[in-house]
Amino acid sequence: MKKNILITGGTSGIGFNAAKNLVKNQDNNLILIGKNINKGELALRKLKEISNNKNVSFLKCDLSSLAEINNFFKVNKFSKLDILVNNAGAVFFDKSFSKEKIEKTFALNHLGYFLFTHFVIKKNLIKKNSKIINVASGAHWGVDLDFNDLQMTKNYNGWIAYKKSKLCNILFTKKLSQILKKDEINVNCLHPGFVQTNFGSNNNCFMKLGIKLAMKFGGININKGTETLLYLIETHNKITGEYFYKGKVSPSSNFSMSKINADKLWNKSLEISAKYL
Ligand SMILES: NC(=O)c1ccc[n+]([C@@H]2O[C@H](COP(=O)([O-])OP(=O)(O)OC[C@H]3O[C@@H](n4cnc5c(N)ncnc54)[C@H](OP(=O)(O)O)[C@@H]3O)[C@@H](O)[C@H]2O)c1
Repeated sequence: MKKNILITGGTSGIGFNAAKNLVKNQDNNLILIGKNINKGELALRKLKEISNNKNVSFLKCDLSSLAEINNFFKVNKFSKLDILVNNAGAVFFDKSFSKEKIEKTFALNHLGYFLFTHFVIKKNLIKKNSKIINVASGAHWGVDLDFNDLQMTKNYNGWIAYKKSKLCNILFTKKLSQILKKDEINVNCLHPGFVQTNFGSNNNCFMKLGIKLAMKFGGININKGTETLLYLIETHNKITGEYFYKGKVSPSSNFSMSKINADKLWNKSLEISAKYL
């Protein structure tokens, strides 16, 4: 059966490696999203080298920008999805801002998932009986959220901002899964493990090198690091609203399990993105 699968951040790391596996099945129609056109074209070329599946496309969108996401859905058309993978993410050790002047970690890693998914649903671009998979992280452990300062205006720390954004991914998964239960759309999230990817490469040389070395000596290879995502893409069951690690439902932090926190994050996210909904 034909399947339409959209992967944000599908041009590198975990997203691209998932695409490399999925492209081999001629029934899969893949849509990859990234902000860099050259990387998108390179990814398409590489995928075409390993398979003669013609149903692969790249669409550009800077997912840290609310306006760009809004515009993306005005200018692009694609068939209804069977699977949406929200995966594009990054860490910003130096505080930076999106085009809308929103702190960039929160903008890309959380609002990017939130707004992109909002439009997929609003524009009726996802089938009944489908899946949304959010790539979160074990980095969510050990932090909470200040709902009055989600963008860390005080005492910004890039790593803590990243951890908080990954906590947002789990809370978003919990809330969205409740909303979409009636449509039989399963929403789950995952921790891929500490994986050798290009993660961190947008930072200064010192931080980039630090992450590369940590990955080289402490990280798992990309195939191992894509296993849980592929498991969620390929497995059919009724599980929804869960956090997966190593192919299994796993515990996540107490903060991430709170319905009150999920509701608060949802309402704040609606407030912040109101102009672009
Ligand atoms: N690697 C790990 O150990 C690890 C562990 C836990 C969770 N994760 C999560 O896994 C996900 C993928 O990370 P990765 O490790 O595969 O990193 P990666 O190799 O750096 O890939 C990141 C992907 O996100 C895209 N992206 C980044 N900024 C974007 C933007 N503003 N707009 C659109 N696309 C953007 C990149 O595309 P462009 O090149 O076009 O920007 C790239 O395709 C992230 O959500 C990360 O938090 C990773």
